[in-house]
Amino acid sequence: MNRIPIIIDTDPGVDDFFCMAIGCAFDELFDLRAITTIGGNNLTDVTTRNALDILHLFKRDDVKVARGVDKYLTRDFDEPVAKFHGANGLGDVELERSTEAVDELAAWDRIYEEAKLSNGELVLVTVGPETNLAMAFNKYPDLKGMIRKIVVMGGSLDKGNVTEYGEANIWHDAEAARIVFETGIPIDMVGLNVTRQAPLRKDIFEGIDDADETVKDVMLRLIEFRNEEAMHDAIAISALVSDEVMIWKDAHTSVIDGDDIKRGMTVADYDREPNSRVAVGINIDKYYEVIREMIRRFK
Ligand code: RIB
Ligand code: CA
Repeated sequence: MNRIPIIIDTDPGVDDFFCMAIGCAFDELFDLRAITTIGGNNLTDVTTRNALDILHLFKRDDVKVARGVDKYLTRDFDEPVAKFHGANGLGDVELERSTEAVDELAAWDRIYEEAKLSNGELVLVTVGPETNLAMAFNKYPDLKGMIRKIVVMGGSLDKGNVTEYGEANIWHDAEAARIVFETGIPIDMVGLNVTRQAPLRKDIFEGIDDADETVKDVMLRLIEFRNEEAMHDAIAISALVSDEVMIWKDAHTSVIDGDDIKRGMTVADYDREPNSRVAVGINIDKYYEVIREMIRRFK
């Protein structure tokens, strides 16, 4: 089977860490072409540093890290909130520093360059605010025809987490998310309605004795920092590892932007021509299998 070329667009971020772990671990499935960074969980300088250090921990210094924007399309970044991701964006866990340099291309240019090399097969996994993707689609009108699919951690089919309606990744740059959802590229949307159902507990590590101790220790500390809550971004990329992780429903999904009280709301209409599959249920055991297999692969 051909490996799937992927780019992970991310704001690491504790749960982003686990998304990157899966992207790195399943090497026979994924050809990880680049990490592109965005602020959200912290400022872009910090998330970019974290992306480099995470790759270094996973011995994947070969993967490029392309830096993204310092503001959303129409708004400035918020001040980082340490209680969710620690002052350093990684649960205050200090990783060994990578000595690799940041990619000479900006995130949106890297996305375009990799798309040109991927014969229509590139999959974008977006687990932060979607500004870099919107910048890429705005700058390169022909990019739409080059992307196979976009996997989105974002939105919700029930409640938000920033407001009643808005989930963080979509709410922060709803204007960008709207551009992405309106590209016509097939979208797999993994929202809070499913991710909230799947906490990542420490007992998942039980019986895994042959994995790299440093990697395991970092993961356990991050899980502890988040009080064993769901690692949303890891759940989204798990859906790409196995199509059995999610229960999908075809829908036309729209994003509400602007300053309305419903800013960031994702509205799934099951009667319209679909532009997406939305996750309506999760097979939690399958997800935990992906996580356990990922841990085992770090030797
Ligand atoms: O709402 C969950 C999302 O927001 C995740 O991507 C997480 O990293 C946070 O920033
Ligand atoms: Ca994230």
